[in-house]
Amino acid sequence: MPAGAYNSLWQVRTDAWSTLEESTAQLALRGARQHPVESLADTVAEALAVLAPIERFWAFPGMRAFYRVRRLFATGKYDRCATMVTRINRSLATDSYRGSQTWDADAEDDARDREPSQADQAGARPQRPYFEVLIVEDMTEDQERALREEFRRWRRPDDQFVYEIVVVPSFDDALMAARLNFRLQACVVRRRFAHRSRHDTSSLRQFVSLLGSDDLMDRPPDERAQVLARSLARIRPELDLYLMTEVAVEDMAGRLSHHFRRIFHTREGSLELHLSILDGVAARYRAPFFSALRSYSHRPTGVFHALPISHGKSIVNSHWISDMVDFYGLDIFLAETSATCGGLDSLLEPTGPLRDAQELAAKTFGSRKTYFVTNGTSTANKVVVQALVQPGDIVLVDRNCHQSHHYGLMLAGAMVTYLDAYRLNQYSMYGAVPITEIKSQLLALRRAGKLDRVKMLLLTNCTFDGIVYDVQRVMQECLAIKPDLIFLWDEAWFAFARFHPVYRPRTAMRAARTLAEILRLPEHRARYDAQTEEIGAIDAADDEVLLNRRLLPDPARARVRVYSTQSTHKTLTSLRQGSMIHVWDQDFSQKVEETFHEAYMTHTSTSPNYQILASLDLGRRQAALEGFELVQKQIENAMRLRDAVDQHPLLSRYMRCLTTADLIPAEYRPSGIDQPLHAGLPKMITAWDCDEFVLDPSRVTIYIGTTGIEGDAFKRRHLMDRYGVQINKTSRNTVLFMTTIGTTRSSVAYLIEVLVTMARELEAQLTDMSPNERAAHERAVLRLTSPSAPLPDFSGFHPSFTDGRGLPTREGDVRRAFYLAYNDSYCEYLMPDEVEQRVEAGEQVVSTTYVTPYPPGFPVLVPGQVFSPQILAFMRSLDTPEVHGYRADAGYRVYVDKALEIAATTRPAPPPDPRSAPGNAP
Ligand SMILES: Cc1ncc(COP(=O)(O)O)c(C=O)c1O
Repeated sequence: MPAGAYNSLWQVRTDAWSTLEESTAQLALRGARQHPVESLADTVAEALAVLAPIERFWAFPGMRAFYRVRRLFATGKYDRCATMVTRINRSLATDSYRGSQTWDADAEDDARDREPSQADQAGARPQRPYFEVLIVEDMTEDQERALREEFRRWRRPDDQFVYEIVVVPSFDDALMAARLNFRLQACVVRRRFAHRSRHDTSSLRQFVSLLGSDDLMDRPPDERAQVLARSLARIRPELDLYLMTEVAVEDMAGRLSHHFRRIFHTREGSLELHLSILDGVAARYRAPFFSALRSYSHRPTGVFHALPISHGKSIVNSHWISDMVDFYGLDIFLAETSATCGGLDSLLEPTGPLRDAQELAAKTFGSRKTYFVTNGTSTANKVVVQALVQPGDIVLVDRNCHQSHHYGLMLAGAMVTYLDAYRLNQYSMYGAVPITEIKSQLLALRRAGKLDRVKMLLLTNCTFDGIVYDVQRVMQECLAIKPDLIFLWDEAWFAFARFHPVYRPRTAMRAARTLAEILRLPEHRARYDAQTEEIGAIDAADDEVLLNRRLLPDPARARVRVYSTQSTHKTLTSLRQGSMIHVWDQDFSQKVEETFHEAYMTHTSTSPNYQILASLDLGRRQAALEGFELVQKQIENAMRLRDAVDQHPLLSRYMRCLTTADLIPAEYRPSGIDQPLHAGLPKMITAWDCDEFVLDPSRVTIYIGTTGIEGDAFKRRHLMDRYGVQINKTSRNTVLFMTTIGTTRSSVAYLIEVLVTMARELEAQLTDMSPNERAAHERAVLRLTSPSAPLPDFSGFHPSFTDGRGLPTREGDVRRAFYLAYNDSYCEYLMPDEVEQRVEAGEQVVSTTYVTPYPPGFPVLVPGQVFSPQILAFMRSLDTPEVHGYRADAGYRVYVDKALEIAATTRPAPPPDPRSAPGNAP
């Protein structure tokens, strides 16, 4: 297959080695029998040509081994060529090269006729973790070999890890290696390297995009090293970078130490470097809380405390629950304890291994502070909202956000402004909230003189369906209007995104850092001044002007205050409910730390689950060491699924993977690219750089309208009950398949098999249908393929639940509206017909509670919200059995008029103007 047909170079490489194994084996066989071999030889030559420009980025099998394969083939030694290729390919396929018995290409002669070892064939697990180190220097082959030998000489049997080196001669090659070789954990930049690659890199352009300006070689060596370090950190921030220099190392250390983990003088040899490389990886490998828990679990204890299950004591001697140990194993109970001392720690006041574990997580996830949460992002969201929002503060939030925000904002007493996302009526889904909607609400609040009370913007990135915001742009434009706005990005589904260079810029933590850096740049100041020259001060500028241009914040006033909540358990390794709160707030220690602590205490159990905490610690270790590899594979699996559905002749008759163009209207995609990943990496990067929204390729929404089966039935009756395939979300005519770092190629293959079986059955049923059955089927298809009743926008709060002052704006007091309904005499139940009649008669009917049909799973009504004809039409069109907040026997719970009158007369006094508080300058 030509490289252009692939989504990733890793697939190209894997397939090329497999093709090579197959065809060299046949060649060896046929060559021996003197059969015609031309076409086989062509296949081998083609595969070798594919591998030639890419093998140099990996230490295994290494270029010497690769050249040897080529030589054996060229000289007709097919037997030996086949043996060697088989050995390499098996080792690659089973990962056995990662063991401590690494391939020694230089000692190739000893191994050349060796059969694949048992370890190669059995996929033996590595004895100690293996990684590769990139050396950037233009050197001869002999020098390279000598250097490799030098590093190998330092190995000791009790080293924690083993590594091999990959040498590249240029800046371009270094970036390509970092982008392609997921085994790299460190990079040593030496003084002499070229800018451009000597090799023809045209076949790689689809998969890697290069950085670096053309004048690189005109700059002094330390600047070149600095540019390279910055470019590498942008692609792989986790790599430990080292600099080896021949000039004044002390001087360099002063200037460049923030780019490099350490700087060495070349003449000092490589032992210190070798030890530092091992030490750097060991620092990420450390899992302090897991280690503390493991050592604690092996100590004998006498428990005179709660938790009879600790050390398995209440189970091991039990006559009735011994199967608990049989099933879970003893270790998990040995690790159960309520101790917070003896090497362990307290989550509420961490001072030992838990504090260390959280600090390591902050480093890995790019935050300034990270907090572990053992009750999911549902709790994380409530902690952040309570820490930052006081009763009466205005919070702007996507109405389709997770229920934890609705409840959290209600408990906090926020005045909530619901934002409308764009609608995808065709698929009964919402997209994300456009920047114009956010800005118009901020400007409306400004007109009403309420901007001072606006505290926070809360958005979901990415949405359930995979719509990803341009996080930096949203924050930049909002800060232009409201310079102290705080952002909470719900990244429940996006913890993995940090570990892939394409996703990373659209994560909250990276965008916060970038924004803070931009605000400090003189170029930004100049651009801001030019903006002021053009439109005048933002505070005085016309709404229309502000809405229609991309705004820059005032660098002297804007504060970067960003929070992100992530369900680690949803997309990375962690036990269920393991989540993290990441903080990048310039004002955290000054303004928030104490209220954050209170909020954390409010919502956190005093008996947090240690296994969850240990799994968060290990999940962080994994992400720091192999996150890049795993996320890349996750994307590849998603692309395999997409290709398999869309290219299958039978499946494509009934199902179709929705593309970026289907889920993101063209007005939000100035790049004009309909399917960014399919268009190759450079195009994908373009789209991810400039489009307002992009689609997370690892989420695959399949349109199933033409099957005539409704989404929920497709999920429950077919996928789950019959085939054990679990999926999360459906809409009327779509089903969402998520790939994660746990998705395997086999599970993708199984899913395809299931979908094909379903399509075959459908085809068979259609053939056998009676005319009546066929007519019913066609009606079902028509219903599912025609647009449903339009999805409703937020209708508005009843005036009794607004603050009733000044120009009307959208925000409402959900807490008052919620608690008023605790008095039964203020509420009544109305069946839908009755509500409709009253609404038609011009009455305002007000919900006492959240009404949430599932699917789609967002509240159509919140407490205090008025019913609209649009909402009623939408509810009527739904055929979902599950509607929370609605009783089939009694109908909707609504307020009686008396309650609304009371609510209007008992509005709380306006909160004090925050500007008047001492120490709070306007
Ligand atoms: C956007 C969003 N935020 C938060 C949550 C809650 O996360 P958790 O299950 O970790 O409590 C979910 C759960 O589905 C979600 O979809």
